[in-house]
Amino acid sequence: MSLRGDYNLAASDFSVEQDWAAYSAEEHALFRRLFERQSKLVPLYACPEWIGAVAGLDVGSGIPKFDQVSARLRAATGWEIVAVPGLIPDEAFFTHLANRRFPVTVWLRKPAEFDYIVEPDVFHDFFGHVPLLFDPVYADHLHEYGKGGLKAMRLDAVKMLARLYWYTIEFGLMKTAAGMRAYGAGLISSGGELAYCVTDPTPKRLDFNLEKALRMDYQIDRYQTTYFAIDSFAQLMRETAPDFTPIYAKLRALPALEP
Ligand code: PHE
Ligand code: CO
Repeated sequence: MSLRGDYNLAASDFSVEQDWAAYSAEEHALFRRLFERQSKLVPLYACPEWIGAVAGLDVGSGIPKFDQVSARLRAATGWEIVAVPGLIPDEAFFTHLANRRFPVTVWLRKPAEFDYIVEPDVFHDFFGHVPLLFDPVYADHLHEYGKGGLKAMRLDAVKMLARLYWYTIEFGLMKTAAGMRAYGAGLISSGGELAYCVTDPTPKRLDFNLEKALRMDYQIDRYQTTYFAIDSFAQLMRETAPDFTPIYAKLRALPALEP
C-alpha cells in the first residue's frame, strides 16, 4: 500500500512535529466546513460521552493545535496526542496506545474528498477519536487495547484483534436511553454513515459479541452491513478484559465470518 503522508522526517516511533503554522487558510476553512457539517449530525446520532467531551474542546475554528489539546487530555485522563505522518506500522501504533498516546495524522484531505476518504486524515483522527479519550472508561479501554495489541503480535493474532478494533473503536454503536447512537470514530467523522448507521433499516445491528467481532471480516470502502452495539463503555471494558490467549487459540481454527 502506498501511503500519502511524508514519512521522511518521522522519528523512530513515527512521530513528527505538527507544524501548525504550515496549514493554509484553505485547509483551516475546509476543516471548519467538515466540522460544521458533522456538528449538525452528532447531537442526533453520537453517544452522550462524545457529545459531552467535544463541548469542552474549542475545535470549531480550524485545525486544532495538538499540544493544547494534549495538555487538557493529560489533565483529564493522562492521554496525549502524538502527531504522525499517516498510518503507521502495528508495533508503533500499539506501543503508542499502550503508553496512552493517540497517533493523529497531520494532513487534511483535499476538497474533492469532502464526502469520502479511505485513509484516516486529521479530521477523522481528531474529530472521531480524540473527544472520547476524555472519557475515563473509554480511555482505560483503549490503553488496554494497546497492550493487547503488543500481545497479539507475539501470538500472531493481530488480524483478529484488528477486526475487534474495526467493530468497536471505528464502527461501534451504543444503546442509550435516547436510542441507538454511534461511538465509533469512522461513524462520527462520516458525513453519510453517521445517520445511516443509526436510522437505516438495511444493516444488521447485533448485540456486542466478542468472538463474533474477532472473527468477522470487514470492508473498508463502503457502509458497513453489520454493526455491533454495546450497552456502555463499562460493558466493552468488561467483555474485552479476559486474557485473549485461549480465545485466539480457539478461533484460529474456525473460519472467518462474512459481515
Ligand atoms: N484482554 C485482551 C487480551 O488479553 C486485551 C484487550 C483489552 C483487547 C481491551 C481489546 C480491548 O489480549
Ligand atoms: Co480511526
